[in-house]
Amino acid sequence: MRISDISKHEGDKVSIFCWLIGKRSSGQIHFLQVRDGSGYCQLTVVKGEVDDVLFEKCGHLAIETAFRAQGLAVRQEKAKFGYEILLKNIEIISEPDKEYPIPRKPSGPDFLLSMRHLWLRSPKQSAVMRIRSKIIESIREFFKKEGFYCVDTPIFTPSACEGTTTLFKVDYFDENVFLSQSGQLYNEANALALEKVYCFGPVFRAEKSKTRRHLTEFWQVEPEWIFADIDSIMETSQNLIMHVLSAVLEENRNDLDILERDIKPLEAVKTPFPRMSYNKSVELLKEKGFEIEWGSDYGSPEETEISKNSDSPICIHRFPAHIKAFYMKSDPVDPKLSLGVDVIAPEGYGEIVGGGVREEGIEILEQRIKEHNLPKEDFQWYLDLRRYGSVPHGGFGLGLERTVAWICGLQHVRESAAFPRMMDRIKP
Ligand code: 4AD
Ligand code: MG
Repeated sequence: MRISDISKHEGDKVSIFCWLIGKRSSGQIHFLQVRDGSGYCQLTVVKGEVDDVLFEKCGHLAIETAFRAQGLAVRQEKAKFGYEILLKNIEIISEPDKEYPIPRKPSGPDFLLSMRHLWLRSPKQSAVMRIRSKIIESIREFFKKEGFYCVDTPIFTPSACEGTTTLFKVDYFDENVFLSQSGQLYNEANALALEKVYCFGPVFRAEKSKTRRHLTEFWQVEPEWIFADIDSIMETSQNLIMHVLSAVLEENRNDLDILERDIKPLEAVKTPFPRMSYNKSVELLKEKGFEIEWGSDYGSPEETEISKNSDSPICIHRFPAHIKAFYMKSDPVDPKLSLGVDVIAPEGYGEIVGGGVREEGIEILEQRIKEHNLPKEDFQWYLDLRRYGSVPHGGFGLGLERTVAWICGLQHVRESAAFPRMMDRIKP
């Protein structure tokens, strides 16, 4: 049995595999707190009910002893996890010969991150990973339901997608290539083959930002489809976010409890998400006393202020063209603007989605490639997509770790990856 299924086994003789995470003794009785990968429960060992050698042994088990336990599963209101197993026997698999290096008292983030390989075992960190797993599952479920094919894109790439300042260079035999910043350009090729596609994998940004929202390696899910206009891009990102959030609220209550996540703000999220033009958002920020000029990009303080205006994520659309990537289509109504959208998460979690309509005009793209100092030769294949069977298309990218951080209510995006990569952290 896995511990998460214990309620189905009330009154049964059960056997679990577990690790010891804590213990308490009162002479005649030992309470052992244990975990497996799915949850937590208490093992109760009563003197006289088990043989004396076993009773003695249970009083001296070290934290992180791995063992199998057999006993009777019972409901126990008073137990921390609601259930206990009245222990009959144990079979030890391994016993640490040193004290567990992570103390029970709170430790600082630097120490914990250096112990990430062990820290992951703690209840909160495991709860985040279970929620992350659910989010990935529900993302794939959403795109399957919507008729998208999963077609993944390469990580070694010859050129930039999101600007040349955040590229990681790698040696590739006799050439320099880069780690992908986004699957988008290849995704566009895939969309023109298969109509509706998504890629889902790691992307890399050499971002010299030590903020609570930035990783150098993160996962993005990027749908791309033909005839996507800006409204359908906002609609699809809204529906994806809502699907993911509902799945977690429905199936990960326990994990949200372990994280002490206040779920009221999550339950308050409703569709349709508010939509606001960039122009309007600049006015709003000015009213709130921000010294912001039309044409500047947003940082965390601006995004946080915007998010205060709604319980639900807010879609900001039609950014100034010059602050967005080379591939963004200009708004035919006002060519200074681009048909791009960012979705800003509530509660100050910042941008979780970036996307938009892609430019189709070959001359415009050639001009932009020049303006952005991108190597023309490397984009010939991309321009072929406009030469042969071109149709309007677009899509977006949702950042997995920022979404996990928001839903879990984490202080910092680093806890949403098992082994986060940041400017100042590459180990373990
Ligand atoms: O806004 P971005 O840069 O958009 C793109 O890469 C587009 N090519 C996507 C597309 O249209 N197919 O990144 C998309 C999302 C952001 O909204 C954010 O959630 C996340 O990726 N993101 C990061 N997450 C963690 N650390 C970073 N350094 C991130 N940079 C972006
Ligand atoms: Mg963006």
